[in-house]
Amino acid sequence: MDFLEMMQKRCSCRDYIPGKTVSREDLLKIVEAGRLSPSGCNAQPWKFIVVDSPEAKEKVCDAVVVGNGVTGAPWRDQVSAFIIFVEQPADVKPVVVEHYHDTQRFAQGDIGAACMNMIHEAFTLGLATCVIGMNDQAKMEKHFGIPSGHEVRLVLAIGYAANPPAVNKIRKPLEEVCSFNQW
Ligand SMILES: Cc1cc2nc3c(=O)[nH]c(=O)nc-3n(C[C@H](O)[C@H](O)[C@H](O)COP(=O)(O)O)c2cc1C
Repeated sequence: MDFLEMMQKRCSCRDYIPGKTVSREDLLKIVEAGRLSPSGCNAQPWKFIVVDSPEAKEKVCDAVVVGNGVTGAPWRDQVSAFIIFVEQPADVKPVVVEHYHDTQRFAQGDIGAACMNMIHEAFTLGLATCVIGMNDQAKMEKHFGIPSGHEVRLVLAIGYAANPPAVNKIRKPLEEVCSFNQW
């Protein structure tokens, strides 16, 4: 399968086989795809917390509920493993700080790139994934010992799809999102 075919076939999964465990070997391959990802100034401003024990997974399930019981992942208790993406202080080049007055200018983009590479590695391993965007930072810090202020940016759910997710690529048309040589 070439890369674009993979892009067309990959889709977010919200229906997992409960109890079908993703191996540590596969989880480490997925993490490796993230670790090898590009980042601004090669700062690698991330820490990946892999969560696969039942006790720790319960904590993730609690931490992805925000406010008055709102969650982007009502299916979360079916998931075999999660990866929590924590933003780290970025050691970027002085010229970047001089220009943007911000060491973290590239960090969220870097984390997004790492997450996407992990998603594609999971896909090649026959695994299904879904990003969970919202989380309760205070719960994350409490449950996982994350130092205060180190923002959890994403959580990635990983498991075996219960049913092949229906591929339905709803995307803005090419002309709306792309132009050549000018705005
Ligand atoms: C930053 C981010 C946050 C997301 N949060 C959620 C979420 O909380 N719950 C969910 O079911 N899907 C979530 N998604 C998945 C998107 O809804 C999905 O990628 C999008 O609808 C496109 O569908 P596809 O991934 O199947 O191509 C998130 C995706 C991203 C990139």
